[in-house]
Amino acid sequence: MSDTKARIAVLVSGGGTNLQAILDAQQRGGLPSGEVALVISDRPGAYALERARTHGIPAAAFSKKECGGQRAFEERLAEAIDGVGAELIVLAGFLSILSEDFTRRYAGQIINIHPSLIPSFCGAGYYGLKVHEAALARGVKVTGATVHYVNEIPDGGEIIAQKAVNVLPGDTPETLQRRVMEEAEWILLPQCVEALCAKIVRRRG
Ligand code: GRF
Repeated sequence: MSDTKARIAVLVSGGGTNLQAILDAQQRGGLPSGEVALVISDRPGAYALERARTHGIPAAAFSKKECGGQRAFEERLAEAIDGVGAELIVLAGFLSILSEDFTRRYAGQIINIHPSLIPSFCGAGYYGLKVHEAALARGVKVTGATVHYVNEIPDGGEIIAQKAVNVLPGDTPETLQRRVMEEAEWILLPQCVEALCAKIVRRRG
């Protein structure tokens, strides 16, 4: 276990483009203070798992259902996270709700990337394309992405950083989602992960 790098666990559910952004940053030296030690998916078929395996990163997949409920699911999550000594937990397209017990246990250690400028278009029911559909329906001219700490309130934790993206005439939810990913999420998340890992490593000192 490196004493100059913080260990990161990334929780995923889907395509894993945000995980890929972190792995690409690591590859090009943009994550000097951190290393992805584990990827966990709550959906066995998530392509994010393929991305982890391609990079030789230990990956596991288990659902709340197969674990037999929320408590057992979170116990298995905690066992895997603690097992690799992860100090930063990154929710990257992770769709399972985490309990207050779990978020308290890892208070200040869990972050999430949300594809809007919180407090707009966030909270229960706002995920994936739904976020961008709501932004277009409201007619906002600027949207973007937010990285925030995770607590028991969906998208309710302290905001860490945000990056704005213009909404263009003729945007569809799909074109807007892609632009927010390319111009905001995939830039902001690796930056925040590096900054938080550097803080963790400094704190050890
Ligand atoms: C992204 O829009 C992200 O903001 C949200 O989940 C979506 C899919 O992310 N949290 P990924 O491609 O699985 O990283």
